[in-house]
Amino acid sequence: MSSLQFFLYCNASFFCLCVGLKTIGSSEILILEFSGRSDRKHARLLHNFSSMGSVTVCTRVRFNPNCSGISTIFSYSIQSYINEFQLRANVIQGKTVQLAVLVHGIHGPYQDAFEHDSYWHTTCVTWSQIGGHWALYADGLAFYRGDGLNSTDSIGPDGLFIIGQEQDTFGGSFKKNESFSGSITDLHIWDRVLNSSEISSMKNQCSLISSGLVFQWRMTSQTIYDQVSSLMSTFMLKILYFSS
Ligand SMILES: *[C@@H]1O[C@H](CO)[C@@H](O)[C@H](O)[C@H]1NC(C)=O
Ligand SMILES: *[C@@H]1O[C@H](CO)[C@@H](O)[C@H](O)[C@H]1NC(C)=O
Ligand SMILES: *[C@@H]1O[C@H](CO)[C@@H](O)[C@H](O)[C@H]1NC(C)=O
Ligand SMILES: *[C@@H]1O[C@H](CO)[C@@H](O)[C@H](O)[C@H]1NC(C)=O
Ligand SMILES: *[C@@H]1O[C@H](CO)[C@@H](O)[C@H](O)[C@H]1NC(C)=O
Repeated sequence: MSSLQFFLYCNASFFCLCVGLKTIGSSEILILEFSGRSDRKHARLLHNFSSMGSVTVCTRVRFNPNCSGISTIFSYSIQSYINEFQLRANVIQGKTVQLAVLVHGIHGPYQDAFEHDSYWHTTCVTWSQIGGHWALYADGLAFYRGDGLNSTDSIGPDGLFIIGQEQDTFGGSFKKNESFSGSITDLHIWDRVLNSSEISSMKNQCSLISSGLVFQWRMTSQTIYDQVSSLMSTFMLKILYFSS
């Protein structure tokens, strides 16, 4: 049995983001809910990144069926390079959702990923500095692979990893027309390229591969705050346990 509860968290300036807790057996999963587009709603990973010569990011997303346009699933920026690493979607009503990866400012092509419906889909992106090899996965299967996506450098350290917004400055200057609308959960990061059998096994067995895992989705891993307010309003997600 699983149950899903949503909570609305608002800071002093009444900026709200809905976060949800799904309880499956004894474990609880945090779900970020972005209802409608905005230039503010986002979540930032509280993680200190090292430089990464190769990387895999997997997450589960559910797009708002009513929204279309460019939708940023995540953006990672470093002080010296804002468009360091991103996963973006192009959502067109009545068409398949397309995904594209961007590394050191080079934008890969948008490719068909999954139906634009109200269901959850898993997606993974892998990239390696060696040859700039990259791949995109939807629901456990690779749907596109490419080379030469800026292999100049590894992904730089000490950056800001932001879910739901594209950064035009380090940690800010978000744009409503590039924001995400829908739900995001289970985002994990590895500092190596997971191969296709590992990614499909995670999808099919609902298990997490631990080798190379540098960021794991947990209740306490995120800070959700309103970038506009001067105080960084931190909603300790543990509070959710007491609210339920
Ligand atoms: C990241 O590094 C800073 C400065 O060294 C430290 O204060 C902070 O606790 C670290 N955060 C995490 C999540 O490890
Ligand atoms: C989409 O729009 C319909 C009709 O306006 C509305 O009933 C529904 O709640 C919307 N769905 C989301 C996820 O916003
Ligand atoms: C590739 O990335 C480096 C930084 O890692 C950047 O300086 C360079 O301009 C990028 N190449 C292109 C063609 O944008
Ligand atoms: C979003 O709007 C800005 C202007 O505010 C524009 O520069 C940018 O190209 C737009 N992005 C998309 C994806 O349309
Ligand atoms: C994928 O990686 C795993 C773990 O490193 C390895 O055991 C397996 O042989 C690899 N599979 C393929 C198809 O490369």
